[in-house]
Amino acid sequence: MKNNYKVGIIGATGMVGQRFITLLHNHPWYTITVLAASSRSAGKKYEDAVGAKWAMKEEIPGSVKDMVVMDAGADIEKIASQVDFVFCAVDMKKDEIRALEEAYAKAECPVVSNNSAHRHTPDVPMIIPEINADHAQIIESQKKRLGTKRGFISVKSNCSLQSYVPAIHPLMKYGVTKVLATTYQAISGAGKTFQSWPEMVDNLIPFIGGEEEKSEIEPLKIWGHIEDGKIVDAAVPSITTQCLRVPVSDGHTAAVFVSFKDKPTIEQIKKDWAEFAGEPQKLNLPHAPKQFLHYFEEDNQPQIASARELEGGMAVSVGRLREDTQYDYKFVCMSHNTLRGAAGGAVLMAELLTAKGFMD
Ligand SMILES: NC(=O)c1ccc[n+]([C@@H]2O[C@H](COP(=O)([O-])OP(=O)(O)OC[C@H]3O[C@@H](n4cnc5c(N)ncnc54)[C@H](OP(=O)(O)O)[C@@H]3O)[C@@H](O)[C@H]2O)c1
Repeated sequence: MKNNYKVGIIGATGMVGQRFITLLHNHPWYTITVLAASSRSAGKKYEDAVGAKWAMKEEIPGSVKDMVVMDAGADIEKIASQVDFVFCAVDMKKDEIRALEEAYAKAECPVVSNNSAHRHTPDVPMIIPEINADHAQIIESQKKRLGTKRGFISVKSNCSLQSYVPAIHPLMKYGVTKVLATTYQAISGAGKTFQSWPEMVDNLIPFIGGEEEKSEIEPLKIWGHIEDGKIVDAAVPSITTQCLRVPVSDGHTAAVFVSFKDKPTIEQIKKDWAEFAGEPQKLNLPHAPKQFLHYFEEDNQPQIASARELEGGMAVSVGRLREDTQYDYKFVCMSHNTLRGAAGGAVLMAELLTAKGFMD
């Protein structure tokens, strides 16, 4: 590992891009050297390009305010020559994103992506660092396909499943057969605030386009295994979800029901959650929460307002574990959707890949 890595943010003016800036500007391993967005923003100072779209509580950091925004599509070779790797979160058509990310990888610039375009490419790992850090091995097969030495793409999963998959994962050893989850998702997940989406005040919208499909399919890739240079999806558990948009600024909650082949006791489950630690905790990565899963005994927890910022928004909160009449157990989970669920999760993935030597 080097002492410092130069990083670029592709989609720097967007909601996720802004979050990357606030998470990275004081990072112990990384220095932001490139900000890029569409041709509409290219050539402008970052402060002018982002303008009134800046939605973070913090001010724009002084180190990036005057940086001139580059053109994410037209300046690929130039950007690749100025960074060790890029984070990517852009609002473009899926096939355009797929092509853009591959172009960066082929320019020998690793891409850590928040976009969904490559989530189902079989040799692109979709990593939740505490759960499937071992999927990083597939990068070698991907590099062979792309014909690259160091360029590759690694993706972050959807934010909805970030709340419940971590709590189910340490219980997989009991043979999880069925999962039902209903998610209650914050408006920042749609890139919105109450100012930009006033219709969400005192409202609930029982539909988020494409979200239920992602919530049911993506966990099976995360729990999949590597075979012949591809990630093969897990066959179980069967998962069904309903995803609702609720009037909350940040924080996705999930009400979860689970059945097992070998039903554990409540005490065993709580012990598994308390003891669960993955590679980020073992490697002591800068954005790793010390305790990944926090279990609350109080009946009225976890609440968004008090729990979403736990461990810098990188922990997952769980509560209300009890027996169910139709499934074995039910419980409630919550995670910060733009921190652990988006930019923070991607930064932790980048830290994992850096510690494993993929960014050298
Ligand atoms: N769990 C997760 O990982 C997660 C969570 C939330 C969002 N996302 C994904 O992250 C991505 C960005 O979301 P967001 O909420 O940040 O969107 P956003 O606020 O709309 O920002 C979009 C960004 O894309 C840039 N852009 C648009 N068209 C472009 C083009 N043709 N070439 C280059 N850049 C272009 C924009 O630049 P201009 O300002 O110049 O237009 C802006 O920087 C989406 O794909 C979204 O699905 C993932």
